[in-house]
Amino acid sequence: MAQNWTPSSWRQKPIEQVPDYPDRAALAATEAKLATFPPLVFAGEARRLKKQLASVADGNAFLLQGGDCAESFVEHGADNIRDFFRAFLQMAVVLTYGAQLPVVKVGRIAGQFAKPRSNSHETQDGRTLLTYRGDIINGTDFTEDARTPGAERQLDAYRQSAATLNLLRSFAMGGYANLENVHKWMLGFVKEGPQSERYRKLADRISEAMAFMRAIGITTENNPSLRETDFFTSHEALLLGYEEALTRVDSTSGDWYATSSHMIWIGDRTRQLDHAHVEYFRGIKNPIGLKCGPSLQPDNLVELIDALNPMNEAGRLTLICRFRSDKIADRLPRLIRAVEREGRKVVWSCDPMHGNTITLGGYKTRPFERVLSEVESFFQIHRAEGTYPGGIHVEMTGKDVTECTGGARAVTAGDLQDRYHTHCDPRLNADQALELAFLLAERMKSGRDEKPTGAWMAI
Ligand code: TRP
Ligand code: MN
Repeated sequence: MAQNWTPSSWRQKPIEQVPDYPDRAALAATEAKLATFPPLVFAGEARRLKKQLASVADGNAFLLQGGDCAESFVEHGADNIRDFFRAFLQMAVVLTYGAQLPVVKVGRIAGQFAKPRSNSHETQDGRTLLTYRGDIINGTDFTEDARTPGAERQLDAYRQSAATLNLLRSFAMGGYANLENVHKWMLGFVKEGPQSERYRKLADRISEAMAFMRAIGITTENNPSLRETDFFTSHEALLLGYEEALTRVDSTSGDWYATSSHMIWIGDRTRQLDHAHVEYFRGIKNPIGLKCGPSLQPDNLVELIDALNPMNEAGRLTLICRFRSDKIADRLPRLIRAVEREGRKVVWSCDPMHGNTITLGGYKTRPFERVLSEVESFFQIHRAEGTYPGGIHVEMTGKDVTECTGGARAVTAGDLQDRYHTHCDPRLNADQALELAFLLAERMKSGRDEKPTGAWMAI
């Protein structure tokens, strides 16, 4: 067990991005209540995910992580969850075929409620209030009341996470994730979309593979693995009081686990070595992520790895890189070299969203070309370094929103106002998300055709 660590030892450290609750008594009461609630996930599931991520670290699987920037209380409905899951599974099928490897499926969902912000305050028409920090902390309305952090919101976030997770589990295990269904949805996308020609060939190959399996008697009726899928949850563990209340000892191993999600990550703004977030994360046994932005120096990264994964356990640590399309070529290689030099086992994942946010006509948006460009650079750099590009991390929704510009069914700057629904950052819509998966799969596949030396070396 980590030395001198307890679920509350982070309270002795300096902390960034965590709000001041005016009603301390209500906060303490809420945390005490949460501590009596059942865990949302079971430690055995977190270990299973860690094993799958170890396989990613070894180059034998690919990680797909995605979901909303921030979940919201008002949009908590079955349709949203279903549409997200539907788009996500289609991406997973396309990537599984492209990589010819299992895809580890992790949603940014069922707990993704707390947001770090660059500014603590916001001014509108001469009035200054606290910024919105996610529904688990305060509300979006520009009123004193809504913007005041409210402890009881944590109970709503817990209940929403539980309900979302419950539906996702039934989708994943109850027949909705059936490969035949997902294949049909994917064909619908290829048939209707303007990008059809480009992706038809790949889609046809997937159809042929499915038909072949059926012909030799491997069907969804007799093969549960075609009907079911492992789906895991994750979020940024920003609000440490909430996380602490859900940190529990696993009775089978005696280890501490965060039970708010299978995987949690540390944001780029809260990764200071001697601060509270790194302190909390070092003591829990879940698989964890670390967001790596342009300011992260190689030595600093190695120190963080020492603190967070001292046993060099494969699958424990995923480095989620978010530089910016025109910065990645400068920042990523030196981090890769430091990790390689020190012989550390990590999963390298690419978040092509967060570095590429711009403002157009008053809307925060992300040009799809820049998102693609960062992913492509990520793959090329790993190829040049001889390391494995293990996954992608995207902000996406299953709905037809207009938040990111570009894509085959092009969203223009003028379209942004039509269906701009995000509570925080702009997300890829269902078509853009699937298009990204197709483009990646194409690259993976053509790379393999050129160099049959193993799936990933050729990417
Ligand atoms: N169980 C396998 C997997 O999860 C195959 C599978 C079933 C699947 N349903 C799926 C793959 C939906 C992707 C999407 O990989
Ligand atoms: Mn975001």
